[in-house]
Amino acid sequence: MAGLFIKLLCFVPLLFVSTSANSYNYLDTRNTYPNQPIATTNRNGAQTGPYNGQWELVSQNSGVSAMHVILLPKVNKVLMYDSSIWRISKLPLPPQKMPCHLVDPVKKIQDCWCHSVLFNIDNSELEALKLETDTWCSSGGLTIDGNLVSTGGYQGGANTVRYLDTCKNCDWREYPTALAEPRWYSTQVTLPDGGFIVVGGRDAFSYEYIPPEKQSNKKAIFLPFLRDTSDNLVGNFGKDKFFRIENNLYPFVHLVPDGNVFVFANNRSILLNPYTNKVIREYPILNGGSRNYPSSGMSVILPIKLSIERPDVIPFEVLVCGGAQWDSFFYAETKKAFMEALQDCGRLSLTTPNAVWEREFMPSPRIMGDMRILPTGDVVMINGAKSGTSAWNDAEDPNLVPVLYKPDAPAGKRFQELAAGTIPRMYHSSSVLLPDGKILVAGSNTNNGYIFNVKYPTDLRIEKFSPQYMDPALANLRQEIMVDSSDKLLGYGKKFSVKVRSKEPGLNKADDLKVTMYAPAFTTHGFSMNQRLIVLGVVNVVNNVWPGIHNIIALAPPSGKVAPPGYYLLFVSYKGVPSVGIWVQIK
Ligand SMILES: *[C@@H]1O[C@H](CO)[C@@H](O)[C@H](O)[C@H]1NC(C)=O
Repeated sequence: MAGLFIKLLCFVPLLFVSTSANSYNYLDTRNTYPNQPIATTNRNGAQTGPYNGQWELVSQNSGVSAMHVILLPKVNKVLMYDSSIWRISKLPLPPQKMPCHLVDPVKKIQDCWCHSVLFNIDNSELEALKLETDTWCSSGGLTIDGNLVSTGGYQGGANTVRYLDTCKNCDWREYPTALAEPRWYSTQVTLPDGGFIVVGGRDAFSYEYIPPEKQSNKKAIFLPFLRDTSDNLVGNFGKDKFFRIENNLYPFVHLVPDGNVFVFANNRSILLNPYTNKVIREYPILNGGSRNYPSSGMSVILPIKLSIERPDVIPFEVLVCGGAQWDSFFYAETKKAFMEALQDCGRLSLTTPNAVWEREFMPSPRIMGDMRILPTGDVVMINGAKSGTSAWNDAEDPNLVPVLYKPDAPAGKRFQELAAGTIPRMYHSSSVLLPDGKILVAGSNTNNGYIFNVKYPTDLRIEKFSPQYMDPALANLRQEIMVDSSDKLLGYGKKFSVKVRSKEPGLNKADDLKVTMYAPAFTTHGFSMNQRLIVLGVVNVVNNVWPGIHNIIALAPPSGKVAPPGYYLLFVSYKGVPSVGIWVQIK
């Protein structure tokens, strides 16, 4: 079944382990464990002209390649993990706490390396976690209680469901037979009741509900759309009749406020009812190329704006940007010829009848980038390359320039380039929105293993990018949420209070005052599962309830369809400058 080249690409574990040991440029990890924060450097030097962002290097060693990342609620740590297939990382298992484990009893092969870590965003320290099943190219999401549910991966990990609670010293719990079909490069999406479906993956033209812990699914639900959007190049490829390109892996799946699920794969998209399992609608094709792995474009739901006056009207727009020509992967993989990535975006309103894709152009082409929704409602496009595709050594021209997208600006005035970084962040790079409004940037491993003596080495450096609103000149506009005197448990459709300490004599609703809720996203391979920002209706502002302290009364989202139950970062943004976010839970 598998195309020859794909087999070569993916089926290399045995061959690989020996070569990797030779080419592994060994650094004495004892010097870097536990990880010490290193001096902050401002690589932009002195600012000339308007402030357009800043980069700082916060760690030299993430321990593991940050292929999958998520900010865990309450503990404020970023969970990072890659794959166990290489049986190597830059962080040995701490021998007293976590002994080496046998991965092949016959050949007596041991694994003494850590494959998942918790990165402390305040002091850059690493904590080792023990992970056994292979999470390579897996998917994930958070439960109502803010714990991680991870699905799929490679080989023995493909049908696995794993749980990681945020409690102290808690470790992974892994169930290798929980899923009915292998989920390698699939997408997990949270449903209105806090449950999940996991959609697609290589050779899995189906989706399934994640079963309760310790139970296993017998059967998945066939979704012909996934079969029909999978690209092959027909021809004579050795004994195979086609070359597998796919272009529909890691489908972009978004929960829509009507309770249905939007699924975008390749250049097509549908609305799926996850309760009746019926495809309700197909949207127009987004032309211009392919958008999903390995033609990895990006997609977000634009901020969902709720209003007090019209609670029944919930606008919902999807943005899809970048990607590659449908056959780029063939040229990258077989000839190392790298075609230019796509530069266009499509924007579609799902709530407008007969809507069509509105097309716009980014300042530069991008593949394998990330889209981060900011607390203010703008979007940053960051990471990726300008040519080639996903997969090992299949891209060139790292795109170092983050781009701000302002969804509310008139067409033609929505994009703005921000300060360039210096570290290529291509295949297997990642990013996370942090509570202070900065973006953590990590990962990039275009290699089959941890390889350092090549043009694009496995990159373990972690940076933070400060978007334009971190301009020191705007510091006085930053509101400070008073955690102890604000509501942190929200009820659907209920009013709640946020108190801010402010340098402004009073806050005016009309002055771009926003209360927003950000769902911490699970990011891998350029897609952020369950990322959404909800802009809440502000009922009232009572200024100076105490001197310098203002009380904002906001209305929580109406239902789990708009905001699935769980933890969110709550921000107050004023005149385009966000506060530090606090954790709230809605259920
Ligand atoms: C959509 O993608 C398919 C598969 O790559 C391709 O054959 C088709 O021409 C594309 N359609 C448009 C309108 O771009």
